[in-house]
Amino acid sequence: MADNKRRLAVFCSGTGSNFRALQHAILERGIPAEFELCLSNRSQCGAFEFAQEHGIETLHLSEKQFGSYEEFEEAMVRALMVRGIDLILLAGYMRKVPDAVVAAFPDRILNIHPALLPKFGGEGMYGIHVHAAVLAAGEAESGATVHVVNEEYDKGRIVMQRRVPVMPGDTPEALADRVLECEHALYPDALEKILEEQP
Ligand code: GRF
Repeated sequence: MADNKRRLAVFCSGTGSNFRALQHAILERGIPAEFELCLSNRSQCGAFEFAQEHGIETLHLSEKQFGSYEEFEEAMVRALMVRGIDLILLAGYMRKVPDAVVAAFPDRILNIHPALLPKFGGEGMYGIHVHAAVLAAGEAESGATVHVVNEEYDKGRIVMQRRVPVMPGDTPEALADRVLECEHALYPDALEKILEEQP
């Protein structure tokens, strides 16, 4: 039966705690969206376990499965198109989204980054490296950013940001935990905002 729920795909490489937070918020708040697909470059990951527990289709897609990068890109675009995906949410996806996918989904791919972009973004700025760089720079605060994905790493339009304080004596791990908790609240709010902006 047709409904007006937006069809989501989530791309993950790891635990997928942001994916979990998004799914919980969608169900609790009645956000008009539904995960149709969880895609990963890894054959096994925490995100897949969660997807399987919730009846969400999983798809392992890696360059290594194809003869060329072009075939890999085409397969990814096709997988998204045949499922009628409206919006892609990156949640700890540790690969560059292929240009063909970005071109096929303009303004329809979001990412969450564990810092206040445009600072502490770009190539090499992922995981614990981000938080170590924030501390090394002596910042008084950090936070999380949800942004639109374009061809350049961490450079797309900022949709929403939220700040957290840097505490005296913070380690990169302690800061990472504080930022991740902030991400879990921010990503669902940003999703709601995008759905309102793109009726
Ligand atoms: C998050 O810190 C996110 O900002 C970054 O990757 C991490 C993913 O964590 N892009 P999880 O898999 O959602 O737990």
